[in-house]
Amino acid sequence: MIGGSVQFLRARCHRSEARLACGINAWSMSIPLLGIERLNVSFGSTPAVRDLSLSISSGEAFGLVGESGSGKSVTSLAVMRLLAPQARVSGSIRFASEELLTTTEEKMRRLRGQAMTMIFQEPMTALNPLMRVGDQVAEAVLAHNRVSRKEAFERVVAALNEVAIPNAASRARDYPHQLSGGQRQRVMIAMAIVNHPQLLIADEPTTALDVTVQAQILELLSQLREKFSLSMLFISHDLGVVSQISDRVAVMYRGQLVESGSARQIFSAPAHEYTRGLLKAIPTLRSRRDQALTMVEAKSYPDLPLKQVEQGHWARV
Ligand SMILES: Nc1ncnc2c1ncn2[C@@H]1O[C@H](COP(=O)(O)OP(=O)(O)OP(=O)(O)O)[C@@H](O)[C@H]1O
Ligand SMILES: [Mg+2]
Repeated sequence: MIGGSVQFLRARCHRSEARLACGINAWSMSIPLLGIERLNVSFGSTPAVRDLSLSISSGEAFGLVGESGSGKSVTSLAVMRLLAPQARVSGSIRFASEELLTTTEEKMRRLRGQAMTMIFQEPMTALNPLMRVGDQVAEAVLAHNRVSRKEAFERVVAALNEVAIPNAASRARDYPHQLSGGQRQRVMIAMAIVNHPQLLIADEPTTALDVTVQAQILELLSQLREKFSLSMLFISHDLGVVSQISDRVAVMYRGQLVESGSARQIFSAPAHEYTRGLLKAIPTLRSRRDQALTMVEAKSYPDLPLKQVEQGHWARV
């Protein structure tokens, strides 16, 4: 239905003499590709995600930040429907017009790896050490497309070129241990984009890398996002990293969203006490070396409802 309304708008814009005034991009940015509403996930009696709602528009990069255990990965795994079987999940997760929590396993298999893909923190554990990296990317192609092995290999080399792996055709024959950490993460990204997905979930994709390589991978993800009009859910515990790549940012604490807004709003005027604490904890060039870094206090905040602080900026205050 959402796809239908975008097509309708595009058709109208083509016909209209005031095509520019139609603002196709502004429209497609405002239509959610992913909409999570009142998501609750618990393992036994322990809630991991509580009453979480967020939406990501087509072509938008959305950053999810929070400390370890706050529920970031559980949220992303709920979207991919890859949570452990004992997880109890309620709420709604809509991807385009599909309700992911109730759709068939067959439909989910088709969506995963094609329309929605995911990259993880540690590529060495995500890649099979006994298989050539090119064959691993080719598996993603062959699982979703009726193409010959030759055609699949051509797509693999094209994807490895997209992620700037030099001598892609020969590196495709390497095993994971023959590549550096940064190159392995590039292979994971190649695997994630090879079928031209609409949504890419990146769960701490740069945490295991040194800062120089981290900056290169962030730059690469930004370029790919623009080139393929990718929507992105970018997860990190590092507010600095998240804000570099995201249009909007949400802050999670103990399974709940405590604040969400544009990256600028969160940085320049954080409304929630926890977000302010997170920002103070980021060391800067002006931080005094003879003083201890600010620590974020572990505490429970009252369960206040999310309230609009200003246009597009929500917080529990
Ligand atoms: N399979 C599971 N069984 C039981 N509890 C789980 C399971 N998976 C996650 N949890 C719990 O859910 C909570 C949220 O975990 P999650 O992995 O989402 O945290 P995170 O924000 O991604 O943290 P990190 O930054 O360390 O990756 C944690 O308390 C975790 O122990
Ligand atoms: Mg995690």
